[in-house]
Amino acid sequence: MTSTLISIRDLSYSQPSAAHAAEGGLVKILKDIALDIPSGQTLSIVGPSGSGKTSLMMLMAGLEAPTSGDISIAGQNLGEMNEDELARFRRDNIGIVFQDFHLIPTMTALENVSIPLEFARVPDARKRAEKCLEDVGLGHRMDHLPSQLSGGEQQRVALARAFAVAPKLLLADEPTGNLDTGTGAIITDLLFEMQRQHNTTLVLITHDPALAERCNRTITIRDGEVISDTTETRHHAEPVEAAQ
Ligand SMILES: Nc1ncnc2c1ncn2[C@@H]1O[C@H](COP(=O)(O)OP(=O)(O)OP(=O)(O)O)[C@@H](O)[C@H]1O
Ligand SMILES: [Mg+2]
Repeated sequence: MTSTLISIRDLSYSQPSAAHAAEGGLVKILKDIALDIPSGQTLSIVGPSGSGKTSLMMLMAGLEAPTSGDISIAGQNLGEMNEDELARFRRDNIGIVFQDFHLIPTMTALENVSIPLEFARVPDARKRAEKCLEDVGLGHRMDHLPSQLSGGEQQRVALARAFAVAPKLLLADEPTGNLDTGTGAIITDLLFEMQRQHNTTLVLITHDPALAERCNRTITIRDGEVISDTTETRHHAEPVEAAQ
């Protein structure tokens, strides 16, 4: 039976805002979100600009703390961890891919991919990183700095880095948003290929309906609330188990 990887309950998130003096100086970015994401699911999050998609992803990554409510990943409540525990949990369980790649500019492709492996004390980190870069077709670009790589190549390095530690969860925020259509399609194919290989749970934020459709499930966020969920009706039903 599929188990739940991410469980979100009563999640609200506010930030200080001078423009919202009437509401106590706070802008409500996310309101009472409840969401269960099964292990191995590919989930796309869509919704207008400013609706709260990136904020939700930052909370799932433990990079921001909610105003109220809980997020549990693999049975662990992020709210009960201190900064060090969160950093370790993220390192061991979560890969993140951003629209603007977020590579370390002073490090080569190989060094960028090696870092998470070295932090995780993986033996032969360099060798593993080389293999990861070969897997994304960049065996010939290992010693290049990000500035010496095209956007598509930089995003391939970011994918290699994100998948290097075989995370349970991959969070991707508009991973093709800065790429032309053709390059974006190559990155998307690679992303889903790696997701399948590792059976990674994928949460993908996108403005591209065709990309959203490639996921098992799509939720739409508007004004900080989930207004539709393609599996809402099946969501609470027990899956029918095949007779053993
Ligand atoms: N630190 C902050 N302080 C104040 N307001 C913030 C902060 N971070 C985000 N917001 C506001 O929260 C809302 C949601 O932002 P968020 O980045 O999550 O939207 P999004 O759905 O990812 O949008 P986009 O599609 O444009 O990336 C926006 O109105 C934004 O201005
Ligand atoms: Mg965003």
